[in-house]
Amino acid sequence: MVVPETFFAERTSLLKTSEIRELLKWVVEGDIISFGGGMPSPATFPRQWIIKIVTEGISEHGDKLLQYGTTQGLKELRLELKNFMEWRGIKTPSIDNIVVLSGSQQGLDILGRIFINQGDTVLMELPTYLAAINAFKPYNPELIGLKMDDKGIIMESLENTLKELKSKNKKVKFLYTVPTCQNPAGVTLSEERRKHLLELASEYDFLIIEDDPYSLILYEPIHVAPLKSMDTEGRVIYLSTFSKILSPGLRLGWVVADSDFADKFVLAKQSMDLCTSPLLQYIAYMALKKGLIQKNLKEICTLYKTKRDKMLEALETYFPEGCKWTTPIGGLFIFAWVPEKVNTKELVYECVKKYKVAYVPGQSFFVDGSGTNTMRLNFSYPSMDEIEEGIKRLAQAIKEKL
Ligand SMILES: Cc1ncc(COP(=O)(O)O)c(C=O)c1O
Repeated sequence: MVVPETFFAERTSLLKTSEIRELLKWVVEGDIISFGGGMPSPATFPRQWIIKIVTEGISEHGDKLLQYGTTQGLKELRLELKNFMEWRGIKTPSIDNIVVLSGSQQGLDILGRIFINQGDTVLMELPTYLAAINAFKPYNPELIGLKMDDKGIIMESLENTLKELKSKNKKVKFLYTVPTCQNPAGVTLSEERRKHLLELASEYDFLIIEDDPYSLILYEPIHVAPLKSMDTEGRVIYLSTFSKILSPGLRLGWVVADSDFADKFVLAKQSMDLCTSPLLQYIAYMALKKGLIQKNLKEICTLYKTKRDKMLEALETYFPEGCKWTTPIGGLFIFAWVPEKVNTKELVYECVKKYKVAYVPGQSFFVDGSGTNTMRLNFSYPSMDEIEEGIKRLAQAIKEKL
């Protein structure tokens, strides 16, 4: 049957396939060195420990863990998350301010559902997390990009944008930010700017979505606190995930928010999946309770720091003149600029076919369509040898275009 477009709701035309997921397909299928996805190293997955916890969990609490759970999430996990958040400086009055999610990606989709009316203004960093753009787009907002430098969003640029919008009688619904070890740019918003951002949010009355998957994956100490911990007005909605600190296959994230927001998250989630798997939540609960997360973090950070340094060294050795890149203090990515005449979106297909190396073209992360000469490079997944060889191949492909 040829399916006519009219069968589909109009908003499906706004659903975009993620270039990252397309690239991941190639990587799984082919013999390609991938700097594409944001995958953790499988070496960091505590397999034996998980087998033991699941076996014990099912024999001791099988009736509960194999049953439907509440939409908010396992009470025991939310209690552990409350302590975990307090350790991060985020005080939550009650576990009802925490909702467990099927990955923090689910939280991004819920944000669209509960906040965005067609035409609403949403502010995002330039560049920003691609899957957040793709989650918001079907709700047809006006996405406005904010310029960044090595200290995160430039406050003058934000203030000018806010003034301009106000002069047009437009109100910002929310600002979405990954303030610490940003994906894809690898930068961290400075403490001073964090304070300023909160002041502007209060003055112009908008919400802040703080997406925080990477602030524990650190290679150098940082001196910034989560925005949520500085939030005295309840206008920050905080998202985080077990994907990078335990395992992404568990699909476990959570949101911390004032109760009015948390209640709406629960309502939206109910119709999406009723609840997140109680069995998988139990693994995360035990990982927090037994201190496995903190213990594993040390190993994860040591491993990724070595890989980050290897990639920085390879970039220095092989990349041609006219290129520059970030030195992230944490997270999984280096963001690179190549000479302006090289279009990284065009180059990537050649890289994959001819050089057997993949990256994510940076343009997809810019809501204003800029960044045509940028690329995001992941260093957590490839091996040390692959990092060296892959960067060498990538450099060759770039040089050919100059
Ligand atoms: C900034 C950001 N937000 C959200 C996510 C989604 O994480 P999860 O695996 O919890 O859905 C990621 C994953 O890479 C991310 O980088």
